[in-house]
Amino acid sequence: MIKLFGIAGSPRRGGNSELLLDEVLRGAKDAGADAEKIVAASMKIAPCNECGSCNSTGECIIDDDMQMVYQKLMEADRIVLATPVFFAGVSSHAKMLIDRCQALWAGKYLLGKSLQREGSAIKREGMLISVAAAKGSTVFDCVMKTAKYFYLAIDVDYEHNLLYDNIEGKGDILKHQAALKDAYEKGRVLGEENDI
Ligand SMILES: Cc1cc2nc3c(=O)[nH]c(=O)nc-3n(C[C@H](O)[C@H](O)[C@H](O)COP(=O)(O)O)c2cc1C
Repeated sequence: MIKLFGIAGSPRRGGNSELLLDEVLRGAKDAGADAEKIVAASMKIAPCNECGSCNSTGECIIDDDMQMVYQKLMEADRIVLATPVFFAGVSSHAKMLIDRCQALWAGKYLLGKSLQREGSAIKREGMLISVAAAKGSTVFDCVMKTAKYFYLAIDVDYEHNLLYDNIEGKGDILKHQAALKDAYEKGRVLGEENDI
């Protein structure tokens, strides 16, 4: 069974990116996946303090909710990062979680540890969901770049995007004709075991 792990990066509960994430999760569950979500803003996740401990252990010494997130990130076959565009980048809640993945990066790239769930041969795939108030094709440039390095660090192939510009007020995504349906369909595809 596919394990999908969703990260809601917006501090606005029930906001546009979380609504999209929930539809992806719903689609994945309907396809038979085990799908779960965390809300970064509701968790105790400190920023990386660049102490360097993880360079020799692949583990972070900060004892907070990120320890649970590490487990989820390593167990998942599909990871979905949902974030609004804040000052051109990801939300600060998402960024703190991403920066803490330096420990997983160190484990894999410095120490040669595998981040793949034991016994699993499923290709790990990542998706970015993002929304922005501004219009235009370049508004997601920075979030896509951050997603690229996030997924690289945690040994996941970054293969899917759901990006909507010109969406500002809470729930405005509900007025978009195709967005929620597209999110649901993406979830179904991600949740199918043969999607490798
Ligand atoms: C602190 C802050 C910074 C923002 N910065 C940008 C920005 O740089 N570019 C943009 O297009 N929208 C920006 N926005 C607008 C949000 O991206 C937009 O309202 C989005 O729909 C919010 O998604 P959410 O409901 O998932 O939080 C910003 C909003 C906030 C609160």
